[in-house]
Amino acid sequence: ARSYNITLLPGDGIGPEVVAVAKDVLSLAGALEGVELRFQEKLVGGSALDATGVPLPDETLDAAKGSDAVLLGAIGGYKWDNNEKHLKPETGLLQLRAGLGVFANLRPAAVLPQLVDASTLKKEVAEGVDIMVVRELTGGIYFGKPRGFGTNDNGDDIGFNTEVYSASEIDRIARVAFEVARKRRGRLCSVDKANVLEASMLWRKRVTALASEFPDIELSHMYVDNAAMQLVRNPKQFDTIVTNNIFGDILSDEASMITGSIGMLPSASVGESGPGLFEPIHGSAPDIAGQDKANPLATILSAAMLLRYGLGEENAANRIEAAVTETLNHGFRTGDIYSPGTTLVGCKRMGEEVLKTVNSLKEVA
Ligand code: NAD
Ligand code: IPM
Ligand code: MN
Repeated sequence: ARSYNITLLPGDGIGPEVVAVAKDVLSLAGALEGVELRFQEKLVGGSALDATGVPLPDETLDAAKGSDAVLLGAIGGYKWDNNEKHLKPETGLLQLRAGLGVFANLRPAAVLPQLVDASTLKKEVAEGVDIMVVRELTGGIYFGKPRGFGTNDNGDDIGFNTEVYSASEIDRIARVAFEVARKRRGRLCSVDKANVLEASMLWRKRVTALASEFPDIELSHMYVDNAAMQLVRNPKQFDTIVTNNIFGDILSDEASMITGSIGMLPSASVGESGPGLFEPIHGSAPDIAGQDKANPLATILSAAMLLRYGLGEENAANRIEAAVTETLNHGFRTGDIYSPGTTLVGCKRMGEEVLKTVNSLKEVA
């Protein structure tokens, strides 16, 4: 039988709640396809800080690098919000992404017919939306130097960051995006701020130049402020979006709400080689942590992306996605996607319902 080692990084807040549920779903879907998954759990974020003094212990990064794929819950929380930068949970997550070299972050935002009523947009606007945001994940203002704190000429305290992209960083994320668009509806929209920022000017130039290698893809460009507006005006105009680290962060949260909830959106982060990192796009949701209220579907769907993009186990991935759809057909909803006439359940119960459905759908592949 095929067997894989998976590193689980539950993290903080609702992270452990949603990862526990997703792990069981992952195991079962794998087992039904004859795939054995071996799990090792490691610390990251605030929980790692509390136990070891750093947000990404070497042991965690080594384990992640040595495994076949990594499933992460979420990191962060009030307790660590005022820590110095190198002692923030968020810094651990950035170190993990950089350490794994996962520069391409795929964030699909698709409106499921079952959840049209959960969207805050009108039905006719939300219906049928199917967008893939390809976010650059290991460059840009998150990592650019110089950065830090200082004092300006007037003696005023300052904080500063640098938005920087090299041509090769742009080319490699653009290539991924063109390839992704090719497997979808053949349309790629590159989002930037090339009317103002040099890093965006280079971005637009490189993406435009690469288009000649992908003559079958229809490339367009849009400024990020307009893109934010167009996403809520008429999201159906978008197929694949490629953008930098910070714009991708913001636009994917915005896109998630079209689908009903941030609790629904999974992601896959991949590099040139080595294990991929799979995580929901949401955070540790400290406001609902420990209350069994979190929607585990974003993490369950991230587990499906792990099977598909991380392990090449397409059939097992399909089982999970079909089970999620079917569970929604059965009417089960966590609070974030609840609408009248559906059945309100907690995180654990939602997980149990998905598990039952994975078991009952024998014919998926
Ligand atoms: P958040 O995504 O944690 O929460 C935003 C809102 O969405 C909250 O009201 C929360 O309850 C809700 N929400 C999020 N996920 C949900 C789910 N699965 N089910 C139901 N509701 C859900 O963002 P925030 O509040 O801005 O950040 C909280 C902490 O998480 C911060 O420390 C932040 O740095 C961190 N964060 C981590 C990640 C990550 O680990 N990848 C991502 C974003 C934020
Ligand atoms: C995300 C988060 C992270 C990001 C933070 C927690 C570092 O918002 O995964 O979207 O900005 O990338
Ligand atoms: Mn984010």
